[in-house]
Amino acid sequence: MISPDLPADLRAALARKAEGLSRTDAAQRAGTISQTYRSGGGSNRIRSTDDALAYALARMPGTYAAVAASLNALLENNPAFAPQSLLDVGAGPGTATWAASEAFPSLGRFDLLDANAALRDLALDLARSGPRLASINYLPGDARKLLADASEADVVVASYVINEVGDADRLAFADALWAKTQGALLVIEPGRPAGYGHIIELRARLIGQGAHVVAPCPHDAACPLEAPDWCHFSQRLQRSRAHKHLKGAELPYEDEKFSYVILSRTPVAPRPARVLAQPQITKIAVTAKICGAQGLDIITVPHRDKAAYKRAKKWNWGDAILSGNDALPE
Ligand SMILES: C[S@@+](CC[C@H](N)C(=O)[O-])C[C@H]1O[C@@H](n2cnc3c(N)ncnc32)[C@H](O)[C@@H]1O
Repeated sequence: MISPDLPADLRAALARKAEGLSRTDAAQRAGTISQTYRSGGGSNRIRSTDDALAYALARMPGTYAAVAASLNALLENNPAFAPQSLLDVGAGPGTATWAASEAFPSLGRFDLLDANAALRDLALDLARSGPRLASINYLPGDARKLLADASEADVVVASYVINEVGDADRLAFADALWAKTQGALLVIEPGRPAGYGHIIELRARLIGQGAHVVAPCPHDAACPLEAPDWCHFSQRLQRSRAHKHLKGAELPYEDEKFSYVILSRTPVAPRPARVLAQPQITKIAVTAKICGAQGLDIITVPHRDKAAYKRAKKWNWGDAILSGNDALPE
């Protein structure tokens, strides 16, 4: 399992890049970029070296935390998975590549692909700052065209990218990602209803092409959640002083909300049930919203059932609960 916080070498590389940077200017740039994202403009506002750095300082910790949590779900399901190659589509500053290199020391080939020149230059600078990613291969251009010529990889990641691909292209984009996947495909989106909508659309499409869900779902059936409910998770990460300043924030941590799916070419077993919200704990019982093999369930683990109650008290939003755990109903 890897930490949700940026690894020390990446933190140091970012800090070196930020030397001499006006924090006020960077905070303004990060604010404008974030507003552009919120109004549907995607990464278009990231145009210069300073924009790219401001974006990375403000957002890389959060997106890294979401990728790390998702890769941990993959590792939890298959601790022996040892991929050799990675394709990071819409890689931006290389966030998912850094997280994957932390999760899988077996990785030897890193192909990244992105249309944004400023983010690509930053990714290359960060990668060249140390030995870990010295050999990355960064393909410039529009993924909708470039994917056809990209090499297949054991792990393909599209992190916070699908929401930037227009409605008309999204399903073809999903097909292209899957076509390049030899082992596992990880897709992450912001933890909002629209992001979840993109995830379940891609999930259904690729299950139709033979994909199997590794996580978060314990089944390949249709998602049992009904609007206005949506499946998303939350990963806590620590904020550095510079990160707090850039975001105009006081708290020493933030909670990154994300939706994700991991799909595999091979059938997956066993698949654990998943905790879909923070459980309520009282002295009488633990009550948890669970997605299990049979679908959605609200389960109550009474205090009188001492061993099960003790285990259930430790459950957190997003946790996997393996079958055989006697807090779960049969
Ligand atoms: C929100 S950023 C996420 C970056 C990175 N994956 C992460 O998790 O930090 C979205 C990235 O997707 C890229 N992108 C969006 N549409 C793209 C396309 N059609 N082809 C290539 N890159 C694209 C943008 O340039 C941007 O770098």
